[in-house]
Amino acid sequence: MTIRIAIAGAGLIGHRHAAASQPLKDAVLCAIVDPAPIGATVASEYDVPHYATLSELITNDRPDGIVLATPNQFHVDNALECIAAGIPILVEKPLAIDVAGAAQIVKAADQARVPVLTGHHRRHNPLIARAKEVIESGQLGKITAVQASTWLCKPDDYFDVQWRREKGAGPVYINLIHDIDLLRHLCGEIVSVHAMESNATRGFDTEDTAVILLKFADGALGTVNVSDAVVSPWSWELTARENPMYPATDQACYQIGGTIGGLSLPNLSMWTHPQKNSWWEPISKTKLVFDFEDPLVLQLKQFADVIAGKAEPLVSASEGLRNQQVLDAVKSSAATGQTVHLST
Ligand SMILES: NC(=O)c1ccc[n+]([C@@H]2O[C@H](COP(=O)([O-])OP(=O)(O)OC[C@H]3O[C@@H](n4cnc5c(N)ncnc54)[C@H](O)[C@@H]3O)[C@@H](O)[C@H]2O)c1
Repeated sequence: MTIRIAIAGAGLIGHRHAAASQPLKDAVLCAIVDPAPIGATVASEYDVPHYATLSELITNDRPDGIVLATPNQFHVDNALECIAAGIPILVEKPLAIDVAGAAQIVKAADQARVPVLTGHHRRHNPLIARAKEVIESGQLGKITAVQASTWLCKPDDYFDVQWRREKGAGPVYINLIHDIDLLRHLCGEIVSVHAMESNATRGFDTEDTAVILLKFADGALGTVNVSDAVVSPWSWELTARENPMYPATDQACYQIGGTIGGLSLPNLSMWTHPQKNSWWEPISKTKLVFDFEDPLVLQLKQFADVIAGKAEPLVSASEGLRNQQVLDAVKSSAATGQTVHLST
């Protein structure tokens, strides 16, 4: 059986999902939904029908699954409409613009037993599986400290689109959420957050910069520094080679520090003292290898497998909700100056 997947939202990432559907063997792109002219353009590029609204699609040409690549502020309404129709969805991150919205999606999906995936495609990258394997095998010892950098330069015209200047569309919700997802996946649950943020560079309602302290459940501490208003090679986007839109650099953006080894990502360099764990002893680097496959393609492939009942979501709606809870803790801590503790 060929799984028919529609995409709602034919903008920046929706277009990439359409491209990512092409190599799939057991699934096909079957329709594009977007009220804007770009919808018809992308639909004709892929030779599939175009609909202006989700309800038109669902009524006239019910697909097996829908990718929701619409603006953040529409995710909850769009997701609830699909869930009510019993159609599995892959919702782009963030699930919603607040925890309440994300929780609504989780609850509705649980009650209706409709599978929901959250679009944290980086987890599908084989290099993450390799890093997780190394951490779980104990080769780094006990994870003690982590640092991550999400420094990007978004050009001025990126903000010509109104919703990108509004609450919920700053780099914390747009970019950091992926890093939080990976740090949780690799280092365990985040239990406390302390953050500061600033909009001093762009002056929009959203933050342009935030610095965050994290505490993980097993006691490890982390620092994350995010800004979309700096020129830098130190972000996942510019280092992981996942998206040809970004120039690739040979830099790293995460350092995971363990008692017997340090690992940087995404370049998968592992550092150890071969003779004795001591800063006075020689230190050497081992480059870990992995086979690259496009995580967006792997994510869609997994979506098709979930629809077919062959797999459970790698990143469920509950995982998306937890990421959202961490982000809300970041925003709340930045607003109040207080540390926010999250229940496990
Ligand atoms: N996974 C990633 O790496 C990644 C990257 C970029 C964006 N995103 C997420 O994807 C979503 C879209 O971001 P973008 O940058 O592609 O936005 P965009 O503005 O480029 O595109 C959004 C599109 O959705 C359309 N749209 C609006 N309302 C709609 C509706 N009700 N039904 C169907 N289409 C509708 C708009 O006309 C527009 O073409 C956001 O949630 C964003 O956070 C994820």
